[in-house]
Amino acid sequence: MAGRKHGKAQRVALVTGGASGIGAAAVEELLAEGWSVAIADIDAKALAAARKRYEGSAAVRVDALDVTDEPATERLVDAIERELGPIAGVVNSAGIAADRHVFDTPIDLFRKILDVNVVGSFIVGRAAARCMAKRERGAIVNIASVSGVRGSKGRSAYGASKGAVVVMSQVMANDLARHGIRVNAVAPGPVETPMVKAVHADADRELWRRFIPMRRYGRPEEIASVIAFLLDEKRSSFLTGEVIAVDGGFRGSGINVLE
Ligand code: NAI
Repeated sequence: MAGRKHGKAQRVALVTGGASGIGAAAVEELLAEGWSVAIADIDAKALAAARKRYEGSAAVRVDALDVTDEPATERLVDAIERELGPIAGVVNSAGIAADRHVFDTPIDLFRKILDVNVVGSFIVGRAAARCMAKRERGAIVNIASVSGVRGSKGRSAYGASKGAVVVMSQVMANDLARHGIRVNAVAPGPVETPMVKAVHADADRELWRRFIPMRRYGRPEEIASVIAFLLDEKRSSFLTGEVIAVDGGFRGSGINVLE
């Protein structure tokens, strides 16, 4: 896919956190399905790699953005609409994580995680939805987490942020349905990405494998295919306000066989 030339496709998606991990896999999947994609990310190094990867592709634009910056987000959404085309899909994959015991969670860190994961997703989703509403057409996918639907250790801040993303997605789905916009959340289990490499120690990996019926971590493309399905107005036209766990069976599991 890298560097493939695309014509001006009808469908345009904005993918935050699109320069790494799950967001980057979503970009690849959406391009393969004929979307044009705007990648927005805060990480300069990852942005430079994305620019190199998609150099010369008319279907991709790459921009620096901090999703907590409301005016910058609104400027970028306007620029995408003018220069790439009307936005029909948003993937809120920008996010930060921490695995800290309650007693070791500084309040600044708690606030920062809520700001990026919850407020940032709201800022981006709302800015794009205002444009989509004029056309009564669009879909938003917020990346939550199994840590937002189950109470796993060390996730007081991260889990709270992802739980908020789940309910925010349901409320936005409710408010925006009359404007022709669908909003869903995907709740991945552990997925091999740079974030997980930074946060999961060997002992965590052992724990996750023990509690996941499929006994393995997910791959970014296994989340990306569900994201693309949820953005596609043909394949998921009656699906909104839903949270889909993509987690090798973790959310639905009870007692488990220890091997
Ligand atoms: P990642 O760290 O590979 O990618 C996240 C991207 O978001 C990075 O490129 C980062 O620069 C960007 N970002 C962070 N703060 C930003 C900001 N303020 N503005 C714009 N961009 C910002 O992580 P990964 O694993 O791909 O995570 C993507 C999403 O999936 C996150 O929301 C994460 O919480 C969620 N998730 C990840 C899981 C995993 O196991 N990898 C499991 C469940 C959820």
